[in-house]
Amino acid sequence: MQRLFQKRIIVGIGGGIAAYKSAELVRRLRDLGAEVHVVMTRGAREFITPLTLQALSGNPVHTDLLDPQAEAGMGHIELARWADLVLIAPCTADLMSRLVQGSANDLLTTLVLATDAPIALAPAMNQAMWADSATQTNAEILNQRGFKLLGPSSGIQACGDIGLGRMLEPELLAQNAADLFAHKALTGKHILITAGPTREDIDPVRYITNHSSGKMGFSLAEAAAEAGARVTLVSGPVHLVTPDRVERIDVNSARDMLAACEAAMPCDVLIAAAAVADYRPETSAEKKLKKDPNSADGMTLKLIRNPDILATLAQRADRPFSVGFAAETHNLLEYAACKLRDKNLDLIVANDVANTSIGFNSDENAITVIDREQQQTSFPQTSKSKIARQLIDFIATHIHKV
Ligand code: PMT
Repeated sequence: MQRLFQKRIIVGIGGGIAAYKSAELVRRLRDLGAEVHVVMTRGAREFITPLTLQALSGNPVHTDLLDPQAEAGMGHIELARWADLVLIAPCTADLMSRLVQGSANDLLTTLVLATDAPIALAPAMNQAMWADSATQTNAEILNQRGFKLLGPSSGIQACGDIGLGRMLEPELLAQNAADLFAHKALTGKHILITAGPTREDIDPVRYITNHSSGKMGFSLAEAAAEAGARVTLVSGPVHLVTPDRVERIDVNSARDMLAACEAAMPCDVLIAAAAVADYRPETSAEKKLKKDPNSADGMTLKLIRNPDILATLAQRADRPFSVGFAAETHNLLEYAACKLRDKNLDLIVANDVANTSIGFNSDENAITVIDREQQQTSFPQTSKSKIARQLIDFIATHIHKV
C-alpha cells in the first residue's frame, strides 16, 4: 500500500526515550511511499544516533541551525518549503512548551515556524508530566493553533509508571500521518486521469515515445483518491507504483489509451496529464526492420495523426468536466488558451517544459491554470505531490460552479 506515495515528510525527533521508536517510524513512512528527511534535537542525539536515521531515511540527517555546510545543502528554509508534513515524534514536554512560545532556538523549532506544511505531534513523556496542567494547557493551545496531536496512548512507561504518555506505535503513527492527507472534497465523484507517455510501435523492437515519467498523473490520482473520489488511472508505460485506492489500467499506444478511457466512462472529471503522441507510424512492421547493407540512404517513416483522447471525450454528450495539460517550450499561455478553446475544455494547466527543473520527468512542477473566462491562477514551483493536491482542490471548487 502506497498511502504516502511521493509525500515529503520531515520527521522531527525530540529528546525522549521513545526516540528509539522513531527509527521504525521512518521505515514505516518509507514503506508507505514517503520521502523522509529527519531533523534531530540535541537531546534526541543522546538517545539514538543520526547514522541510524540516515541509513533508514536514505538522506543526511539535519541537526544544527548554524551549520554552514548543512545550510549550503538543504538549508532550514528550503527544508521547511520542501515538506508536505512535519511529524514530530517523540514530542517531549519541553518541545511542546517551546512550540507554544514560538521559540526558534534550534533547527526543529525554527523549521516549525518557517513551514506552511501541516504539523503533527506525537507527545511522549512520563504520565505525571503529561497530566500536569502546564502540559495540558500547552496541548490545548497547540491544538487550537492547528497542530495535530496524535496520542499519547496509555500503558506501562519506560520509567515503570502506568498511564497516559506513551508515544503511539510507529505503525499507527504512519497510518495516522497518511490519514492527515484525506478529505472529502470529491466524495462520490468518479475521476478519470491519463498519465505517462504513449508508445507508438515502428516494429516489434522500436517505438516512438517521449520523456513523460507519469509522476504528475500519478500524483493527481493519489490526491484525487485522498479527496474521496473513485479514481481510474489510465497510464502509458511508466515505472511507478500504483497509489492506494486507485484503479490502474496500463496501455501502450494512444489508440489503446482512448479505448481504455472510453471503457471507463462515464466520469465526472477527466484530467488528461498524459503526454500522448500526436502521430504514429502509418504501419507497424510485423518483423524487425533491417537496414539495407548495400545502401547508405536514410529511411523515411510516414507518420499519421493519432486520435485526440481529450478532445474526443470532451465533445461527448455525457462530457465530463474536462481538464487538459499544455506542455509547451514557448508562448506557453497563448498556446494553452488555444487548446482550452479548441478542445472544448473547462480548465487547462499550462506547463513550461523548457524549464527542466519542472515538467517532464522532474519531481517538481509549477503551473498556471486558465479557465473558460481566461482567468489565470498560478501555483509556484513545489513538489508534484503538492501541486497535485492544490490542483485537485482547485478542480473541486470549480466543478461546483459549472
Ligand atoms: O509525466 P511527467 O514526467 O510527470 O510530466 C508531466 C507532463 C509534463 C507530461 C504533464 O504535466 C503534461 O504537461 N502533460 C501534457 C503533455 C502534452 O503532451 O500536452 P499537449 O500539449 O501535447 O496536449 C494537450 C492536452 O491534450 C493534454 O492534456 C494531452 O493529454 C491531451 N492529448 C494530446 C494529444 C492527444 N492525441 N490526445 C490527448 O488527449
